[in-house]
Amino acid sequence: MRTQVAIIGAGPAGLVLSQLLDGQGIESVVLECRSQEAIRATIRAGVLEQGTVDLLTDMGLGKRMHNEGLRHEGTVLRVGGVDRRIDFVGLTGGRAVMVYAQHEVLKDLLDARLATGGDLRFNVSDVTLSGITSDMASRPVVRFRDASGAAVSLRADFVVGCDGTQGVSRSAVDPQALQTVERHYPFGWLGILCKAPPSSDELIYALGADGFALVSTRSCEVQRMYLQCDPGDTPDDWSDDRIWATLRARLATHDGWQPNEGPIFDKTVVGMRSRVIEPMRHGRLFLAGDAAHVVPPTGAKGLNLAISDARLLARALTRFYRDGNEDLLDTYGPTALRRIWRAQRFSTWMTTLLHRFPDADAYARKLQDADLDYLTRSRAACTTLAENYVGLPVAPPW
Ligand code: FAD
Ligand code: DHB
Repeated sequence: MRTQVAIIGAGPAGLVLSQLLDGQGIESVVLECRSQEAIRATIRAGVLEQGTVDLLTDMGLGKRMHNEGLRHEGTVLRVGGVDRRIDFVGLTGGRAVMVYAQHEVLKDLLDARLATGGDLRFNVSDVTLSGITSDMASRPVVRFRDASGAAVSLRADFVVGCDGTQGVSRSAVDPQALQTVERHYPFGWLGILCKAPPSSDELIYALGADGFALVSTRSCEVQRMYLQCDPGDTPDDWSDDRIWATLRARLATHDGWQPNEGPIFDKTVVGMRSRVIEPMRHGRLFLAGDAAHVVPPTGAKGLNLAISDARLLARALTRFYRDGNEDLLDTYGPTALRRIWRAQRFSTWMTTLLHRFPDADAYARKLQDADLDYLTRSRAACTTLAENYVGLPVAPPW
């Protein structure tokens, strides 16, 4: 079996890439180890940058997103019970974000790929890559077992590893050729979904005396909230009563504001770390999305970065197949990494600003207070937050 581009992983990076390539007449096969049903049901991120919304709209995938998604034109920072609104639209010349769950984006992408006969293989196993450094005369090969357990060989011009943090693509690369830089945080997030009306028209990023809390939403009936927890916690450590008591305490205002409560039907603990693996190209293998980089979730950049990698790579592959020119393939990694590092900077800053670090000394706490104080008083500081939150350009001019 052969194709032009073999894509490992049907997450946001893999599916956006496959769909963009299809639009340019470039064939791909997507190999995914999970079932289609599992992909459609996995709860993860929820905030789309303006550029992501525009891209999905241009791809013809905007119908449900614009009907069911919620455009947010600002957000609220609540520190010590006092609110400061960040006006995205006013501070960025009209840009905003869309609250629309990652699995809804994936459903739209899966439906679009399947409607045009896209070759997506679910429930595959034992994926291995070989020949990634080969020239065009001897192409790389991806071996895997299909859903029935049969061994399959797929020869491709290029392989793209979009297989997330636990994927196999990176293991095809000589470890000496990979540079990994990372940071772990001394806390995690407990994420919940509950059946209740929205508590707020906009997201609330709150820092209370004992930690961070975030009020987000999914619809008029379903709300998403997060709270800072110990990194080793499991959902079983958090009874519903403990969750609501913690949210009420961290979100309390001086005029008695309280979140709307309702039955909790999903609880997950999300780890917090930052990681970048370079370079993003190894011969005929490219890495995209979480396979190459991870950000802590504060600021909601992970999903958006995965999609911007896919967009850059689709443009580079299109140039190659149209003109035989490899220049954009050569610059894919360096171009993507400039944006990735800006998102790392922003996510780390938001995380540091809005969490209680158990090991922080008095000096670090005072600096955090000063940073928050500056942000609540300076229009320039608010503009910096707003322009990063709604999303920076995908490629030059920056
Ligand atoms: P993924 O979405 O991870 O997709 C990779 C795909 O590859 C998966 O479908 C996987 O099954 C498949 N795969 C893996 N290994 C193999 C293999 N060997 N063979 C074949 N297929 C394979 N980001 C935010 O911005 N805000 C959030 O609130 C947020 N919450 C998160 C909560 C959780 C629990 C997690 C795990 C992540 C969260 N993220 C969040 C991060 C965001 O969801 C990711 O950045 C985003 O999914 C990255 O997309 P991706 O396509 O690179 O990788
Ligand atoms: C959501 C997730 C985030 O990481 C964030 O910063 C804001 C909202 C969400 O899942 O709704």
